[in-house]
Amino acid sequence: MSIFTKKPMHLLLEEAGESSKGLKRTLSAGSLVALGIGAIIGAGLFVRTAAAAAQNAGPSVTIGFIIAAIGCALAGLCYAELSSSIPISGSAYTYTYATMGEFMAWIIGWDLVLEYAVGAATVGIAWSEYLNKLLVEVLHTSPIPYEWCHSPFQTHAEGTVSGIMNLPALFIVSLLSLLLIKGTSESAFVNGVIVITKVAIVILIIVLGWGFINAQNHVPYIPEPTKYIDNAGISHNYGGIMGILGAAGTVFFAFIGFDAVSTAAQETKNPKTAMPIGILGSLAVCTVLYILFAHVLTGIAPVEFFRTKGGEASVVSAIIDYMPGYGWLAKLVTIAILAGFSSVILVMLLGQSRVFYSMSKDGLLPKVFSELHPKFKTPYKANLFILILVGLFAAFIPGDIVGDMTSIGTLFAFMLVCIAVIILRKTDPELPREFKTPWVPVVPILGVLVCGAMIFGLGWTNWLRLFGWLAIGFVIYFAYSRKNSHLGNPDKK
Ligand code: ALA
Repeated sequence: MSIFTKKPMHLLLEEAGESSKGLKRTLSAGSLVALGIGAIIGAGLFVRTAAAAAQNAGPSVTIGFIIAAIGCALAGLCYAELSSSIPISGSAYTYTYATMGEFMAWIIGWDLVLEYAVGAATVGIAWSEYLNKLLVEVLHTSPIPYEWCHSPFQTHAEGTVSGIMNLPALFIVSLLSLLLIKGTSESAFVNGVIVITKVAIVILIIVLGWGFINAQNHVPYIPEPTKYIDNAGISHNYGGIMGILGAAGTVFFAFIGFDAVSTAAQETKNPKTAMPIGILGSLAVCTVLYILFAHVLTGIAPVEFFRTKGGEASVVSAIIDYMPGYGWLAKLVTIAILAGFSSVILVMLLGQSRVFYSMSKDGLLPKVFSELHPKFKTPYKANLFILILVGLFAAFIPGDIVGDMTSIGTLFAFMLVCIAVIILRKTDPELPREFKTPWVPVVPILGVLVCGAMIFGLGWTNWLRLFGWLAIGFVIYFAYSRKNSHLGNPDKK
């Protein structure tokens, strides 16, 4: 059978209807928006924003946010159409299987590991930075020794000590994987509480920080194009259009997650209407908050600060140094961020296990990934495997690298989702669609272009990482998945 065989739509819809045999339907539109915001606001805002300002764009990181938001909105409209017509677990993977065939579906499923698993590791690493702030600023104890909260590829700015492994990052991803195994519904409740705290903290920083904006820090708003070499000797495009595109690619991370909502389709009541609301609603709320937040952050502290002392746990570092009298805010933010990051990691781990679940149901991954726990009805073996995978990334790779790998992988997935909408309109025009992407094919094409521009901005080291990752995926596909695919080998089912 051809590697371009498409999964028939009737099969997908049958599977969606079979949910009583598998995952429990417990989530409503409201809990989906919460799930979305829970996944969205996190390390992208509280760590990657300052990194993008320092390495790429200075204050014009706000323009980077606008570009990233436009890319997400365009892709989000495409996601919403697909998730409302194919209400089944698996996200972009499932959509691609129905529209572009098995091989492309495999690529996207494999690519989504970058988004969810590597993304969860990135946030775990950011969690570890803020944990040190908690220890020092809130609990007034010593921080975790440098070597035990950094990867082996990192060396202290003074060059005295290198990292060994990031233990706190490993700890948090392990703890949350175990929580997920206990059940999505309970996890969604914990998530709801955290989401409210997180949004409140972001608003508080915008409102209180506004008064501390130093206009000088915003001049020039778009720096002259030049190169910036960071501590590790890596060269970045700083300033000008390329700087803004690079920043857009980096802060794009802050939007990742709204699409994770679509992976929970099989656990959603009325997925056809709840999905578009969940995806677009959470995206809209976050966009407004991000632009204001980035404006405040780059106004409070100069770029030089984020290149040096304020490079880790940047938001709390900036509050401590540049907002005198607001020590209480720094403490509150630290605690809220630690909780907030946890909810992001939770949703990403959930998304990853659901993608593996779908791929395993299709035979592209071994059966163990779709075996449900007899009592909790969660794919617990997949969760445990993901725990190991995410744990390795979190413990041994620097946050900058996993962050940009997550961005580039997700941008690539978004491009394929946009293309899938155009194809599905042609191949299956009669398919009932609760939500229709407006102005097809203009919106999907613009989505491809804007996401492509951000991939371009991320630079060749990240392109190479993406190619390397996809190459490993090809090997697994031809060595295992193709031979075991249920669609290609019906007798093996
Ligand atoms: N958007 C998520 C974050 O910023 C992944 O942490």
